[in-house]
This record gives sequence, C-alpha cells and structure tokens, in this order.
Amino acid sequence: MLLTLLFLVAVFVCPWLYIKWGRVKSYWLQRGVPHYPPHPIMGSLTFLQRQNPAMWMRQLYKDFKAPYVGMWLFWRPALVINSPEIARRVLVKDADIFRNRYLSSGKTDPIGALNIFTVNDPLWSSIRRRLTSVFTAAKLRSLNGITVSKSKAFIDRIAVDSKKEDPIDLRKICTDYTTDVIGESAFGVTSNCLAEGDSIMRKVTREFMAFDLHRGLSWSSIFFFPDLVDVFRFSFFPKDTIQLLRKIFRTVIEQRGGYEKEVKDSRDLLDALLKIKQEAVKENEDISEDLLLAQAAVFLLGGFDTSGTTLCWVVYELAWNPQIQDRLYQEVLALKRKIGDRGFDSTVLSDVNYIDCVIKETLRFYPPMGWLDRIANKDYKIDDKLTIEAGTAVYVNGVSMHMDPQYFPEPEVFNPDRFLPENERDIIPYTFMPFGEGPRNCIGMRFAYQTLRQGLADLILNYEFKTLPNSPKPKEIGVEKKGMFLMPDEKMSVQFVRRDNEFVNKA
Ligand code: HEM
Repeated sequence: MLLTLLFLVAVFVCPWLYIKWGRVKSYWLQRGVPHYPPHPIMGSLTFLQRQNPAMWMRQLYKDFKAPYVGMWLFWRPALVINSPEIARRVLVKDADIFRNRYLSSGKTDPIGALNIFTVNDPLWSSIRRRLTSVFTAAKLRSLNGITVSKSKAFIDRIAVDSKKEDPIDLRKICTDYTTDVIGESAFGVTSNCLAEGDSIMRKVTREFMAFDLHRGLSWSSIFFFPDLVDVFRFSFFPKDTIQLLRKIFRTVIEQRGGYEKEVKDSRDLLDALLKIKQEAVKENEDISEDLLLAQAAVFLLGGFDTSGTTLCWVVYELAWNPQIQDRLYQEVLALKRKIGDRGFDSTVLSDVNYIDCVIKETLRFYPPMGWLDRIANKDYKIDDKLTIEAGTAVYVNGVSMHMDPQYFPEPEVFNPDRFLPENERDIIPYTFMPFGEGPRNCIGMRFAYQTLRQGLADLILNYEFKTLPNSPKPKEIGVEKKGMFLMPDEKMSVQFVRRDNEFVNKA
C-alpha cells in the first residue's frame, strides 16, 4: 500500500508540482513585471513575522523604482502599486472593480467577519451607506464632551506620572487616552483608564495590542492568506475580548431602554448605531446584534491604536524638533488667549492650521496602515503592457510614496510646513494617503483628527516636551515585526516640563 502511494506521488504528484511551480515562478517574468524571486513555498511572504510589511514595501520600492512590482502570496500572484496615477485608478476611478479588500476574517469569528473593514460587497456598501451617518460633523460635535473631558484627564494623569521615577511610557499613556475616548464613544460605557489606571475597555485594548505568535499568525493569515483562516480557526479579534465586548454592549443597550426605545438625539456612536437598527426596521430590514457589535468593535480596534500611536509619535518628534514645538505652542497659546475662559473644543481647534500640519507630517512618516489592500473583481488593464486577472490582490504602496524625494523633497526631514495650505496644494495627488483613498477610505478620519487635535492642544499648552538623555532619535526607533501595522516596538519616553503661562494650574 505504502509502495503504491509512493509510486503515485513519484509519478503524478511530483511532476504536477514541478510543472505548477514552474508556471508560478515565471508568472511575473512572462508579463515583464519586476519582482524578487519567489520562495518555493512562501512566495514573497518570507518577510512575515520577521519584518514589518510596511518596511518590506519600502525596501521593495527602493529596490525596483518601478510603477508596479509583482509578488506572490504563497503561490498566488499579487501586485504592489508604486505609482500615484495607478493608485488613483484603483482606489477611486475604478473603485467598483476594487470594492473589496483581499483580506478576510473567515466564518468562524462572526464579529471579525461582519465588521465594515473586513466585509465584502454588497454587504459592505449597505453598511458603509448607513455608517456614514454615524460620522457626520453634527454627530462628531456630540462627541466633543467626551474628547474634552478625556483630554483633561490626560493632562492630570501626566501631572501625576511625571512625578514618578520611571519615565512615562508615551505609547501607553496616549493609547489610554484614545481608549477612553473611543471606548466611551463606541460602547457608551464609562472608561476612566486615565484617571483610574485601568478600565474594562483598557483590558480589551491591551489584548488588541498584544501581538504574540498566535495573534501574529492569525493576522498574517487574515491579511495575506485568508484561505487558512477557517482551517486554523484564526480570529480577527482575540476571542475573549469579544465575549467581554458583547457583555458590555448588551448591558449598555439594556440600560438605554433596549433596541426598541427610540433614539432621538444621539449622544455617541452607540446611539448612532442603535438608530441605524431602528431605521432599518422601518424599511423592513433586520440588522442583527452581531452586525452592530462588529461595527462598535472595529471602531475601537481601528481607532484607538492608530490615533494613540500617532499622538505618541507627534510628541516624540516635537521633543526632537524644539523649534517646531515652539511654533506650535505659540499658535496654540495665541488661540487660547483669544478664546479666554472657553476651553479648546473641536470648533475652535479647527482654526489652528499648524496643528494639522504637524499631525499630517507625523502621519507621512508613520502611517499606521501604510499599504492599502484591494482585490480585482474582474480582469483589469493596469496599462498597455499589463492586465491583471480577476482575483488578483493589489497593494497600494502609500508608505513608500510618503518617503519618495520626488514627491516630498528631503523626505527624512520632519517639516510640517509641507502641509501649509500654500504648499499642500503642490503635493501630487495620491502620494499622501495615511487614511486611504476613495469610497473605502477611513471612515473615522475626522473623529481621529478631533481626538488628536484636542489631546495635542491641551498637552502643548500645559507641557514642554524634552528629550531624555540617551534616548534614541525618532528614526532609530524600531517597528513591530509581528504586527501588520507600522507601530513602534520599544518604549518611547520624553520629559514633560510644566509650562509657565497663565493657563497652567501650577498646584
Ligand atoms: C490616525 C488615525 C487613523 C488612521 C491613520 C487610520 C487609517 C486607516 C486606513 C489607512 C484605512 C484603510 C483605508 C483604505 O483602504 O483606503 C482605514 C480604514 C478604516 N478605519 Fe481608520 N484610521 C485612523 C483612525 C480611525 C478611527 C478613529 C476609526 C473609528 C472610530 C477608524 C475606523 C476605520 C474603519 C471602520 C475603516 C474601514 C473602512 C471601510 O472599509 O469602509 N479609523 N483607516
């Protein structure tokens, strides 16, 4: 029996594999597309868990200097797009062909599979249409109270922690702030992690941030080889966090009077989600609890670390660039003097253009999701030389365009002036995409700006950020290798020194 089996493998399987591999490895060669030679099993994915995907994309961009480069997800061909013009067509002009992401969260994890980030059309269009109403300017104004009060708690916490011997862990404290803001907005439950040192929401986001081997493999598979997700029962959200989030979600909905109690003016994102369900009922559509919970969960996951880590990088860069810090401080102080007793809020802060310049320049360096994933739903002509087949994954290599001297002269210099209105208009479209582009761009972008502006304005009014002796320069900070996003993998700290102005409470 064993001999027969070995014979069959030798006669049929091995030659088949050999021929198949020959076809796989010549796929991009035959089409004249530059590429690194593929590994016989992993294709191009040998970098996974060893190098951050964004850093791999940057290396590839430098090595080939080509508008597109071929790669393999195991044996499946995929294309990296390095050209702003092709990016525009994929993300915007021909977005109907590239509606879906290649990544997928499989069927074993309903919350992972139902959230707007992972779902495919037609469900995606229907969810996105409804969720757009959750992030209107009016709804975001209703979140102002949360942002303002959490930002105050942020300043108070820094006052306490800066008296301690250990330097403050910047990423931790910034993600405490964003957990409180987004956790409370999306789940309607009090999250006082800044004030109390921990909260139920922080338990969840701490788990989101922990990239051990299992989580690293889960996400590698979800992003780059979704066929294996169900086989290994990988999940998008850590499993116990979902049980906890479900419990919180149900409790708060009950406290608010259940699904039937009509929501008139929504106080937060949770109310806005409830309203969606109630409006769907009027249209004879049913929206399940899982579908609502999945959206609240992805707001938290998609928002707290991206925004918190961005704020952490902003503070760190400002500590290393004191002139830029001083300019921002002077602008914020001038605004505060103008508004007098009124505190900062989203309306007044939209006037300090330089805050946005600093945030954008930080996102140019450290876009948390620097490559944008799509899949072609039919054959697509990239240019006169190349047509990709339906089912091909494409990755728009934004993180690399952000650092290309052709688009951003002296890209290694931290220079927020690039984003002043008179300069920003010269930036070539689709070379700066920290929030993605087109109909599938980041739905939380304005909320992220609101949270970042508030936290940064309050921080800089109250504290000067100084580098600590022997701390690494920003570009020497390493990035996570196991995670998919561009996040620091070491502790970042600065010294917070109380400012001397009439608004600082010196007690
Ligand atoms: C600095 C902060 C943030 C950055 C840099 C960021 C970046 C991104 C990027 C690059 C995408 C993919 C866009 C594309 O494929 O074209 C995305 C999608 C998304 N983001 Fe954000 N994000 C941030 C904050 C937030 C916040 C605060 C929320 C929610 C409260 C959020 C919710 C989402 C969701 C739900 C999607 C999926 C949208 C869809 O597929 O339709 N993000 N984000």
